[in-house]
Amino acid sequence: FHVTWDIHAAEKGGYDHFMLKEIYEQPKVIRDTLLGRIGKDSTEVQLDGIRLDKETMEKINKVYIVACGTAYYAGSVGKMLLEAQARVPVVADVASEFRYRDPILDENTLMIVVSQSGETADTLAALRMAKKAGARVLGVVNVVGSTIAREADDVFYTCAGPEIAVASTKAYSAQLVAMYLLSMKIGQVLGKIGDEEFAVLRDALLELPEKVERVLENAHLVEDLARKNLHMKNVFYIGRGLDYAAAMEGALKIKEVAYLHAESYPAGELKHGPIALIEEGSLLMGLVGQEALLEKTISNIKEVKARGANVMAIAMEGNEEIRLAVDDAIFVPRTHPNFTTLLVNIPQQLFAYHIACGLGRDVDKPRNLAKSVTVE
Ligand code: G6P
Repeated sequence: FHVTWDIHAAEKGGYDHFMLKEIYEQPKVIRDTLLGRIGKDSTEVQLDGIRLDKETMEKINKVYIVACGTAYYAGSVGKMLLEAQARVPVVADVASEFRYRDPILDENTLMIVVSQSGETADTLAALRMAKKAGARVLGVVNVVGSTIAREADDVFYTCAGPEIAVASTKAYSAQLVAMYLLSMKIGQVLGKIGDEEFAVLRDALLELPEKVERVLENAHLVEDLARKNLHMKNVFYIGRGLDYAAAMEGALKIKEVAYLHAESYPAGELKHGPIALIEEGSLLMGLVGQEALLEKTISNIKEVKARGANVMAIAMEGNEEIRLAVDDAIFVPRTHPNFTTLLVNIPQQLFAYHIACGLGRDVDKPRNLAKSVTVE
């Protein structure tokens, strides 16, 4: 009797790639990142050791969220939520830009740096610049004891565990949870979120892991759509508000792992240029987690469909209007509008993964990319 045992297959826990394994770990990662910070009876977000008390926050007159790559897209979600919930002005910027301009930094500035590895050179340089100018720096970091974690004034650890695939999936979801919790915390500390609203947000947040499980149960539908779109020429991800932030991550993922030309655009901006690129063989991915602007996004989708593109949407369960407007729709469970980004993104990850597999790409180690960029 002979058993062959492959160490790499064992590490992948039966999945073909680390990327897929990490996609499936997301319900656990979300639970772990919530654990100890918010629970079913919580009346506030507990962030032990992080100084976000009323006195500290009342002195803060602006926030910068600075990061690179996927972490920057999580930061873009953070910007929108923090402004909406805490009513403080927030600028989200990529670290390589931030560090070479002359941003307004002083002791009344809070800088949130987001980094999975905690080692990205540009993000670290931006952090050092902020500290030198007397700003407070809060790191949202996955790797414990990393340089950014050590140098930030405070650290919010995302609990994604080691992420092996170069393209980030589970770390991004954990970063989103961090953004959700931080915006709730700061909003509450500044008196902008009342007890009732807090309870609604808390309950919705705690339901997310189970909703992600439901999205993953329908993964085969996304795989079918990936097969159908395998030979597309290019893909345009569009959305409004938080959906636009999610669209940026969707387009990045498919560029990274499938080597396909992808763009993300605010839905209303498409007509100001990129619509000229739409032709037969193009795919439009319309994100409609934010239903307040449904009619407007649908009209943008129709404009593109009329020009010969195949049109897909990722939308909230039960949205019949969108089903009628597109060729194919993927539905995710309904949640509070603040938290749609996380659910809408899971099919985007699966779509990029299956396109990449179908095209025979090196999914876990895409060409030209590094997991952590520690030099400029
Ligand atoms: C590299 C990785 C990306 C990541 C980015 C920022 O480009 O390939 O997946 O989003 O760096 O990395 P960080 O570790 O700072 O989150």
